[in-house]
Amino acid sequence: MYEAAGPAAAPDAADAFERAVLTGLDYPQKVIPARFFYDEAGSALFEAITQLPEYYPTRTETAILADHAAAIAAAVGPGQAVVEFGSGSSAKAPLLLRPLHAAAYVPVDISGEFLNQSAAALALQFPELPILPVVADFTRSFALPARVAALPKLGFFPGSTIGNLAPGAAIDLLRGFAGLLGPESWLVIGFDLAPGAGKSVATLEAAYDDAAGVTAAFNCNLLHRINRELGGTVRVDDFAHRAVWNADLGRIEMHLIARRDTMFTAAGQTFRLTAGETIHTENSHKWTPAEIRLIAHASGWTPVHAWTDSAGRFAVRLWRHHDGALQP
Ligand code: TRP
Repeated sequence: MYEAAGPAAAPDAADAFERAVLTGLDYPQKVIPARFFYDEAGSALFEAITQLPEYYPTRTETAILADHAAAIAAAVGPGQAVVEFGSGSSAKAPLLLRPLHAAAYVPVDISGEFLNQSAAALALQFPELPILPVVADFTRSFALPARVAALPKLGFFPGSTIGNLAPGAAIDLLRGFAGLLGPESWLVIGFDLAPGAGKSVATLEAAYDDAAGVTAAFNCNLLHRINRELGGTVRVDDFAHRAVWNADLGRIEMHLIARRDTMFTAAGQTFRLTAGETIHTENSHKWTPAEIRLIAHASGWTPVHAWTDSAGRFAVRLWRHHDGALQP
């Protein structure tokens, strides 16, 4: 069973991109928030990224989930409503939905078109399962479908999407998930691990700057989007994709760097960049196991199980929300 999400649930006002660009390009360090990557073209490019040989997180996390889905199911029990935040193609959800004997699946994504296509495809694999997509920006408050109100809930937040937020915002978001999912809910969440024994900085940087140039195309899609949607005159060729490890802040940063002095107009404004100046488009924080535990406790979740691949690249965690639990 699958019910298409209506356009009424559109996450951002039509002019949100315009406002974000006008504001962000006015800062000394120019910035465009990462959620604007995901128009239809951007969502498709992102799916291509997840298949790249350099992009180890997707296949590593998928293998961890496949290996431990039975343990997750044993811990949480049957009949959960699984709520996936930023579901995209919903490629990982079946790994949990089947062993879990889920009662419903609620994929939440910002890209409505993509969400409805993915939900329709999943409905073919799971004809009996109620699939209730919600078009929403999960970093803002939104409501779950009334049909899952009485069901026990398991949040699913794979892909190290949490790393795209700074630690303070990550804690706020996870606290928000606890409130949305309710007391005694569960969370299955993926964290990409910091460089160390199993992972070099070069491996990390390559994951965000692949040889085929797919990640570059994904980043540059923001510039095309300015041209398409804001009547922009950006010469996309004046920009290059750049991914760098920021050791002080423990994150990969993606930027669009001006290869030469360049100028464009968008939404009636003129913007100038000098050669070497950048537009900061995304952060991807990488975590140590101790930081992951701290994030759990700081956001109202209790760690229950921890799984890591044998090379120590990626972490999957099972947490529980104990509302007002007594502490010594
Ligand atoms: N959250 C994942 C990560 O940071 C996936 C992702 C988001 C990503 N935006 C990206 C991957 C841009 C590559 C490029 O790894």
